[in-house]
This record gives sequence, C-alpha cells and structure tokens, in this order.
Amino acid sequence: MIIIIIAGFHPMSSTVTPSTSVPLQATTDAAEATVAPSAPAGGGQVHRPRRLRRTGTLRRMVRETVLTAADLIYPLFVMEGEGQKEAVPSMPNCFRYSLDLLLEEAKAVWELGIGAIALFPLISHHLKDNAGTESYNPEGLIPRAVRALKQALPDLLVITDVALDPYSSEGHDGIVQNGHILNDETVAVLAKQALVQAAAGADFVAPSDMMDGRVREIRQALDAEGWINVGILAYSAKYASAYYGPFRDALDSAPKFGDKKTYQMDAANAREAIKEVELDIKEGADIVMVKPALAYLDVICRIKQHTNLPVAAYNVSGEYAMVKAAAQQGWIDEKAVMLETLTSMKRAGADLILTYFAKDAALALRP
Ligand code: PBG
Repeated sequence: MIIIIIAGFHPMSSTVTPSTSVPLQATTDAAEATVAPSAPAGGGQVHRPRRLRRTGTLRRMVRETVLTAADLIYPLFVMEGEGQKEAVPSMPNCFRYSLDLLLEEAKAVWELGIGAIALFPLISHHLKDNAGTESYNPEGLIPRAVRALKQALPDLLVITDVALDPYSSEGHDGIVQNGHILNDETVAVLAKQALVQAAAGADFVAPSDMMDGRVREIRQALDAEGWINVGILAYSAKYASAYYGPFRDALDSAPKFGDKKTYQMDAANAREAIKEVELDIKEGADIVMVKPALAYLDVICRIKQHTNLPVAAYNVSGEYAMVKAAAQQGWIDEKAVMLETLTSMKRAGADLILTYFAKDAALALRP
C-alpha cells in the first residue's frame, strides 16, 4: 500500500496511473472492470461515493466537466517579414510568425478543431508613438493579417485585440500625458482601431485595456458604420498581473515607466470584477472575460453566476511559462497538468479559454 501511494505521488514518476495523471480520459483497467465481492459490510449503511469512481467508463459517464477543442482559442503573435518564425524564449513552443507562416499555423489550428484565434502584433519601433497611430492604419500588420486569414480560412474565427500597448512608444495601453494615462482620448483611438479591424474582416474585436467606457464607444462606432455583426469580446475583469511578463517579452511591449495599476484591476478585488462586468454588459459586450485565469478561478466562478453571457478566461503567458518550465525540469507531467489546469477553468465557469496550450490540448483530447 505504501508503495502505491509513493508511486502515485512521486513527482518524477514516469509511469502514470490513470487516477492521478490522466484524469480526463476514460481508461479501463481490467482489474476494475468487474465487480468483485468484498467482505460483507457490518453495521449500518455506508455511503460509498467510490462506487461511481470504480472504472474509467463509469467515471466518464458521471464526469461533470468535459473539455473540448471547441472551447479553446489560440493566441498567435504576428510580425512583418517572410518565411520567418521566431521563438519566444519565455514561452517555449510559441513563436512570432511572419504572415505567410501564420497562415500555415492557422490552418493547422483549424484542422485540430480549434475554432478561433486571437491575434497580437509585434510592431517595429519606428512605427510606435504616444498616440498609437499605427493601430488604425488600414494597411497595418493586423488588418493585412486578418484579410489574409479570412480569405484562406473563412470559417476560422479571428479575434483582434483592441489596445494601444503594442503600438505605444510608452508601452502603455493609453495615451500618456504628464505621466498620466488618458482615458477618453484613448477610447477615441480604440474606436478607430476597432473599425479598421472590422473592415478587414475580424469576427470579434477584443478591447483589452480596462479603459472606462470603451465597450460602449466601440459598439456605437461599429454600429454606425454598419458592422452590426462584429462581436465584442470584452476583457472585463483584467487584473494588473505579474503573469503577463512573457507576453510583454513576445511583443516587446512592457511599459517604459510605472505599471498598469491605474487602469488594470487590483489583484485583491472580486466585487469590483462584478462591477466591471455589469458595465461592459450594459455597454454591449457579447462575451465577458477574466484574465489571468488560474489565480482568479473564484472570479470566473462569481461572474458565471452573475451573467448569462458566455464567459471567457485567459490562461495567460506566465501561467503557460510556469507549466512549461516545471515540465522541462522533469518536475511535473506536462500533459496531465495542462489538461487538469484547463479543466479547472472550465469547471470554474469558463465557456471559452484562451490558451497557448490550445494546440497541445486539442491534440491530447483527440478521440
Ligand atoms: C495588452 C494585452 C496583454 C495581454 C493580452 N493583451 C498584456 C498587458 O496587459 O500588459 C497579456 C496576455 C498574456 O500574458 O498572455 N493589452
């Protein structure tokens, strides 16, 4: 008995037992398949929840949460150039793709059963300024990428990020004046950015900067130009989080001064997340999001209870990097931890999950 416990929990264990390491798949152990009699139970009735855990088939039948490839959204980094694919060191197995290779990657994603990608651009320094002007250039990297993607893969949903940080010389999500991040002036730029993305063919625009009033402004701008079917995926509860570090490496978009705490939320707050969600719903959001995901499962759960809209969760770069790093050390079973983590987000209430693991998970979940 002691040996079984040690084997099951030993982190370096390479033989994985179904119950601890592959919680999501139906595995049938020959020893479990038939009901073996035990000694007659003495005394009163004993409640035996273990009856429902006896075999893989049974566990699968009573499973409450099932993760599928259709739940996943794959974030992808795009850059200028041709035939290029650059590794992001703090995000193993994630790359910045030039447009031609992005199309190949998107095709592979689609073939795995993943329905949507979220695009993020690496913008060259000479195009960055304080007002993020390049963000609404109709010939910019993102509009070109969206047009090419929708032409090559019309059914793959394309979600574009609406924010200034990749375009900002200050590395902030808003226009900076005397060290302050301006709200309303920034929102006006975001509306222009969203219109350019919609015209390029984006299915959803995703305002990610936590400025006030941006969902309303973007919805009005889209409707006024006839883009009534372009949806808004609102980063409604986005926290000022240290888990975004690797993403900022990928896009070279870290703030040049200070931090993002005057616009992104304080990690200690959950009621405030409900307030933000309520506002975004009133302003016209189609889907609300919580970000990061893993350290905020309680927030996902509360928001799910509060709204009938689909809830998305963003399994962010730092969460991805932690799993990858531990797996590279041989300290955890990567595939099992990945599936368990993504399942926890869905169990907490996420209908959709943005994750850099999307491809790996879709592969692992293939029947
Ligand atoms: C920018 C944006 C960020 C992420 C998505 N959009 C970074 C930030 O707010 O600084 C982070 C995603 C990740 O860490 O995976 N508006």
